[in-house]
Order: sequence, then structure tokens, then C-alpha cells
Amino acid sequence: MPQELAIATCGVCDGTVEEFLDLGRQPLSDAFREPDSDADEFFFRLAVGQCESCTMVQLIESVPREKMFHEDYPYHSSGSAVMRAHFASVARRFLDTELTGPDPLIVEMGCNDGVMLSEIHRAGVRHLGFEPSGGVAEAARAKGIRVRTAFFEDSTAAQVRAEEGPAQVVFAANTMCHIPYPDSIFRGVDALLASDGVFVFEDPYLGDVVAKTSFDQIYDEHFFLFSAHSVRAMARRHGFELVDVERLPVHGGEVRYTLARAGRRAPGAAVAALLAEEDARGLSDIDTLRGFADKVIRVRDDLVELLRRLRTDGSRVVAYGATAKSATVTNFCDIGPELVSYVCDSTPAKQHRLTPGKHIPVRPPTAFRDPYPDYALLFAWNHAEEIMANEQEFRRSGGRWISYVPNVRVL
Ligand code: SAM
Ligand code: TMP
Ligand code: ZN
Repeated sequence: MPQELAIATCGVCDGTVEEFLDLGRQPLSDAFREPDSDADEFFFRLAVGQCESCTMVQLIESVPREKMFHEDYPYHSSGSAVMRAHFASVARRFLDTELTGPDPLIVEMGCNDGVMLSEIHRAGVRHLGFEPSGGVAEAARAKGIRVRTAFFEDSTAAQVRAEEGPAQVVFAANTMCHIPYPDSIFRGVDALLASDGVFVFEDPYLGDVVAKTSFDQIYDEHFFLFSAHSVRAMARRHGFELVDVERLPVHGGEVRYTLARAGRRAPGAAVAALLAEEDARGLSDIDTLRGFADKVIRVRDDLVELLRRLRTDGSRVVAYGATAKSATVTNFCDIGPELVSYVCDSTPAKQHRLTPGKHIPVRPPTAFRDPYPDYALLFAWNHAEEIMANEQEFRRSGGRWISYVPNVRVL
């Protein structure tokens, strides 16, 4: 069937969004299902396009935010030691730079279980987290962190400004890209931020997604895929300037963007360098994105072929890491329990449930050893080092990891 291409309106600038990849019918990526549930599952069409005007890469359809972020949102940021160390160093950097004046304030949107703010709290610095997902917000509160169980947006941010005064830093990690209403966010940041404050956010980088063919970074919660070009354009629409960028190794490749009010800080050399690199790679060209889409199809075909061959050979294959990303992989590639018996995951809220859409059972990591499978498909490829270090015995037992980033191979 020929792919039906849709056009949509840009979530940033009202330009026209041209579709370049259709990943089909997809469930909510974090909706892990009780095994005995007969409730209808929510599905939407996961397709991605680029704005012809501001270059922002984004989903064609968005999912209502309350369907994704609610009391039972299962993702706990503190589940990874690498991410705990990463966010502790982010916090220490803010404490040493932006938060040195009298009684400073830092506000974080999407603070989750307090993985970053716990370090700020320990330092005794005034802070506030916005976290609409009640369960993880409560986990942060239990650590002594100040949290509002609310979405950050223009009205809630203005309320905090009225009650607490200006913030020197507004921070968001793996959250800005989740929000298809940036106008409201920027109005909120504008209301809340001190005149010389910074708005800092870090998210998966389009440049890494294209370089690694990591199409699993595309799912309901990841509405935008940012680049330096598209973030600079978005910032300028709202009176902000992109003044710094840093490439980050976490989550498969991210960029941390630092924005300041226009004219308040001079953009650093790293901004010009990343913009030039993106130009040289043609990262803002729709043809580059179409080339990426072709590679995605190849990865899908190779992965399905490998898993079918292993099933025919009688090999036992399980997966590791019931990531939100893996919902895109399993549903796009049509991988169910007949190809992958179960997925091991350390998150209690995911265990003993079924993965969204394809209904693969999720088991605790102890099930991995009981006995070891022949092959383990690494869904949490972004945590490869940490997981492989913890599971060295698997290889010693003769087991082999399977990766599909940047291409399908047995490690
Ligand atoms: N910052 C953590 C990290 O990097 O691990 C959590 C990231 S998690 C993928 C995204 C979080 O953003 C979720 O906990 C979700 O509830 C929250 N969120 C979504 N929309 C939000 C909004 N408008 N304001 C504040 N938080 C939001
Ligand atoms: P993420 O890629 O969105 O951070 O999700 C990682 C998932 O992998 C999360 O459900 C927790 C799980 N996980 C493990 O099961 N074991 C581990 O050692 C790590 C780091 C993550
Ligand atoms: Zn646009």
C-alpha cells in the first residue's frame, strides 16, 4: 500500500509540516497493561515530519497530555546509576554558576522522582519542581523536594512568579520535547525567569537520531526532535536567544540548550559550531530526513529477519529494558511474544505487566538468569554500558546481545 503522506501545522510557527516517516498505528508507549485487563487500548498514528518554515521535526498527531502523564506514569528517572550521576553533576554546575546570588531559585519542569532536584535540596537552595505525574511527584516529595503536581505552562508558571519571585534558572530534561505547546511554555518561562536568568533544557538530538538511525526515539511522548537550528528559531519567536549548546552522551545522544533573553548574553562559540555542523550534514534538509526514513525500513526488515531466523533455529530470545522507545520498535516491526518471550526490566511499576500494543510480558531482572536465554535484544541500548556491566555473567554463559542501533547485529 502506498504510504499516505499527511501535512500538518507546525506546533512552533504555524508553518506546514511535511511528513517523511510513517511508523504506523502505535499505543501509548508507557501504558503497560495488567495481564487480565480487557480494557480497550488507545492507539494513534505515529508519523513524523518537518516544518518547511522553521525546520522543527515533530509528530503529525499529538496525544492528549493527560493520557500520557498521570498518577501511574511508570518511568522513574532514578532507576539508572548513570543518570543519577549525570543529574547530580548538572545540579552541582548550577549551584556553582547561576545559583550563587542571594536566596536564588531554580524551577524544574518534569522533575520526575527528583533525580536532579535532590542534589539542589541537599545544598539547601530554594527550588520547585513541576511534575504532573502524581506517582513520581510523590516519590520526589518523599525525598524532601518541593513539588507541584501540575503541568508547567503559562498560568501555573505565572502563579509561581507571583508567590516566589523570579527564578535564576528554569530547567527541563527530557521534558521540553514532550510538550507540543511551546508557546505556553515560553510565556511561562518569560513570566518566571529573572531578567538575566537562563532557560536550560536537554533532549534527544536530531543529529544523533539521524546518525544512529535511532527511530525508537520517536514515540508519543517525544513530540519534537530538536536541532540547534530549530531550537534557535523557536527561541527567537519568543524573545530568547540560544546562547550555548553542549552535546551529551546520555540517552543515546542529547543536546543541552541554554537560552537567555535576547541581548542579555552573547552566544558562545559552540552555538555557531553546531549550526555549521548541521549545515554541513544537511540536517535541516528534508532529503536527509527521507534518507533516514529509508534506513529505518532497512533496520526493521533486518531485525525481523534475524528474530524469525532465531525462532526457526529454536533459540531462546528475550529482551532487556521495557523502554518507552521499545513500543515503537515492537509495534512498528510487529514483534510480539512469539519472537521475544519476555522483557526484563528493573522498574517495579512495569513488572508483571504486558508491553503496550504487542503484549510481551515484563519480568524482573532475576528472570533473566533463570536460566539465561541464548540471545537478549537490548531495548535499553542507551544504557548498554550499565546493563552489560551488571549482566556480565550472561555473556560468560554463552549468551549474546542483539542491538539494532545503528544497525542490526549480534554483539
Ligand atoms: N527529567 C526527568 C529525566 O530526565 O529523567 C524526567 C523525564 S520524563 C521522560 C518526562 C517528565 O515530564 C514526566 O515525568 C512527565 O510527567 C513530565 N511532564 C510532561 N509534561 C510536563 C509539563 N508540561 N510540565 C512539567 N512536567 C511535565
Ligand atoms: P529509558 O531508556 O527511557 O531510560 O528506560 C530504561 C528502561 O530500562 C527503564 O524501564 C529501566 C530499565 N533498566 C533496567 O531494567 N536495568 C538497568 O540497569 C537500567 C539502567 C535500566
Ligand atoms: Zn515551524
